[in-house]
Amino acid sequence: MFTLAQLSDLHLAGEPRLSQLIGKRGLGFINWQRKRKRIHRPEVLDAILRDLKTQAVDYIAVTGDLVNLSLPAEYERAAVLLAGLGNPADVTAIPGNHDVYVHGVEQAPGEYWGDYMRGDDGLQRFPFVRRRGGVALIALSTGLPTAPFLATGCLGTRQLTRFADALDQTRGLFRLVLIHHPPQSPPRRFLRRLIDGKALRRVLAAKGADLLIHGHDHRRSLVWLEGPHGSRIPAVGAPSASAATAHGDEDGAGYNLYRIDRKGTGWSCEMMARQRGKDGTINEIERRTLA
Ligand SMILES: [Fe+2]
Repeated sequence: MFTLAQLSDLHLAGEPRLSQLIGKRGLGFINWQRKRKRIHRPEVLDAILRDLKTQAVDYIAVTGDLVNLSLPAEYERAAVLLAGLGNPADVTAIPGNHDVYVHGVEQAPGEYWGDYMRGDDGLQRFPFVRRRGGVALIALSTGLPTAPFLATGCLGTRQLTRFADALDQTRGLFRLVLIHHPPQSPPRRFLRRLIDGKALRRVLAAKGADLLIHGHDHRRSLVWLEGPHGSRIPAVGAPSASAATAHGDEDGAGYNLYRIDRKGTGWSCEMMARQRGKDGTINEIERRTLA
């Protein structure tokens, strides 16, 4: 049995200096001050992390948007948080769009969180693969700087080619794909979509995977993607781990647990969603069999 916890979209924020607020960061900061500051609360994230400590987990995956405006102070806070989660061998982080918010910070996640973003081969290159027992964790990066008002992501042809190879090389293991952006978005989230989501879905349909987990939408979701030979691949979205309240189509804070076990010649996988309620208590609100 292997239990993995998924945390997502922490949005750790720092106080920017005036000189750091040119361009997209300035607009992001206005949005933060007007609205987001009241949603993503450090005390809520602390409560989620305390609850996570009470669960027996073997591994933690953080699926992007650890920080808010890609400021040095934010990266440092996230590095401290990651160290608190566990040994880099037991924790994987992948970047989201907020972790590569502006041009010039493309290398920063790797510089600050590098030990959590490398494969068993020691290389810091996406996708990277970690094998833990019968589970192969395949980590993708969709984070890249975009123009203001865009929150799109992109994998790129090179990463997709390597991803297809990684899926081939891990056949027979429980192939768990980590990605920030969902592989498919409704039209209303066009400006926030994964640009090459269709190409990603094509690779998954050809090569197969056992589970894909993502963040970005700040809401709990489950979509079944097409796999090879009529099979289906569950794509599960986790809410933000720091959201004080539900608002719009976003959920309040929570995180997911996945219990993976061998079953016959295949695998079983059960998902448990833990959610912070209006009274501040955190409880399991959903349990689903995914495989
Ligand atoms: Fe986010």
